[in-house]
Amino acid sequence: MISPFSAVRPLAQKAISGILGLPAADIDPVVRESQFADLQLNAALALSRRHGMTPMELAQLIADALGGEPLIAEATASKPGYVNIVLADSWIEQQIRDLSIPTRLDPSGRRVVVDYSSPNVAKEMHVGHLRTTVVGDALVRILDWLGNDVIKQNHIGDWGTPFGMLIEHALDAKSSGQDAHELAEDPNAFYQAAREKFDADEDFATRARLRVVLLQAGDEATLSLWSDLVGESKTYFNKVYAALEVSLRDEDLAGESTYNAQLPLLCEDLEKIGLATVSEGALCAFPEGFKGRDNQPAALILRKSDGGYGYATTDVAALKYRVQELKADSVVYVVGSPQANHLEMVWQLTREAGWLTPATDVTHVKIGNVLGPDNKILRTRSGKSFKLLDLVDEAVARAHKVLVESSSLESPEEMQAVARMIGTGAVKYADLSVAHDTEYIFDLDRMVSLSGNTAPYLQYAVARIRSLIERGERTSQVTNTVVISLPEERQLAMSLLNFEAAVETAGEKLEPHRLCAYLFALTQRFSSFYDAAPVLNAEDDARSSRLALCRATEQVLVQGLSLLGIRAPQRM
Ligand code: ARG
Repeated sequence: MISPFSAVRPLAQKAISGILGLPAADIDPVVRESQFADLQLNAALALSRRHGMTPMELAQLIADALGGEPLIAEATASKPGYVNIVLADSWIEQQIRDLSIPTRLDPSGRRVVVDYSSPNVAKEMHVGHLRTTVVGDALVRILDWLGNDVIKQNHIGDWGTPFGMLIEHALDAKSSGQDAHELAEDPNAFYQAAREKFDADEDFATRARLRVVLLQAGDEATLSLWSDLVGESKTYFNKVYAALEVSLRDEDLAGESTYNAQLPLLCEDLEKIGLATVSEGALCAFPEGFKGRDNQPAALILRKSDGGYGYATTDVAALKYRVQELKADSVVYVVGSPQANHLEMVWQLTREAGWLTPATDVTHVKIGNVLGPDNKILRTRSGKSFKLLDLVDEAVARAHKVLVESSSLESPEEMQAVARMIGTGAVKYADLSVAHDTEYIFDLDRMVSLSGNTAPYLQYAVARIRSLIERGERTSQVTNTVVISLPEERQLAMSLLNFEAAVETAGEKLEPHRLCAYLFALTQRFSSFYDAAPVLNAEDDARSSRLALCRATEQVLVQGLSLLGIRAPQRM
């Protein structure tokens, strides 16, 4: 598949190089979408003065040179120095005829580490984690499709002082014959019960503190108990990932504890380089450019006075590992916005230590809050945070209701399966279709609605197109002619050819909502096309041609949705 951008770019480079006598490869013709044509070139604006011309003079020369290209129907200079380009219908027709969406673009050789999801052991995943999980997974799929070598890192919180009380609580539960699997079923209840005992029972608190010491000292029996707890949590995470149809697997886990063995030496190194000093018993670093209270340099605590290492220390070790061992060209953190300062301090310290160099770029994909109808962070009536699995189940139930009202599906099993596809798709799409750093209101009824910028709207379009294609191909011979006659056909075709460019933009900017916006606009164009151009009742060539547009639309929508981690039903 060749996008209009990549088809026009080399022609424009050749034209400009002929006029200015520069090597074609050095020229960026600045090809952009245009309001007045299919595309526009902006290069004349920047290049003309250096070559003693006005932008309009250069734009006119470029337009003249491009006029002879068979791919271009019309090239005109437009004030103050743009070149507007209309593509030849014949080229568009041929592209649609030959359209095939690759399963993946050629490998780019770029290695991208994506840190996402990253929930905490022995705690419920909340809607904040829903977003880091869903956005991260879409980015992984998009970046992978673009040919990057993607490494997923699920930086789960699996270490720290709370494990003392959690282990003791698990031991108590076991010795009194209680269900040891509560953690996998209802992590919050488990955590809270441990917390309550810790606050109320002095004996228990002492045992818990001793347990932390044993854990940090690497006592084998304690480690084994700890690892059981982590195992229970993994079972729970995997249940959530399965329900959300997210691609994370056990092999993507690289929790905080992964870096334990490196921390003492890492701290020693930082001290030696002069980047860390002991202050009030704790080892601290003061990365440049960060101010805390009273305008004093802000501290990252590397080792607490009790000897335990902090969240930041682990993050420094993780980044060092990602650069030096995983050989990342780029590290992407899909993490809540409130952690921006933490991450920037960690990066700055890692830079100062010489472990992070300009060869690796680091980006924080900031995740905004999910709000309830009252515009506050989403909680249940009793003030607790919602359980993710309950939210997904509720979405599926509402999708089922919508189907009961609107669908012609007869088998209850199929209806249930489609409801699941729509319900999970709806929740994920609602997350993906807004800019990741904005807040949005969690509104299940809007999410599962068949109209508007929702997953079910797109899924429904796919199902309708599929049925159209099936009927079209069943009822008469289809040739592989594509003829563009109506403006709606041309608009749909152009939109289809821009798929790759849309995925590229989403990948470059790390913004899945751009792909959503593209798919939504495409679907709207399909609707306009369908309103203007009868498909099944059209005559021979027009019928075949319109069916080809349907097939191309189906391909693009299905591939686009799959890059968002959303499936499309056969019927609905
Ligand atoms: N576990 C953390 C949380 O729930 C998120 C971890 C993000 N990744 C990182 N490398 N710090 O807030």
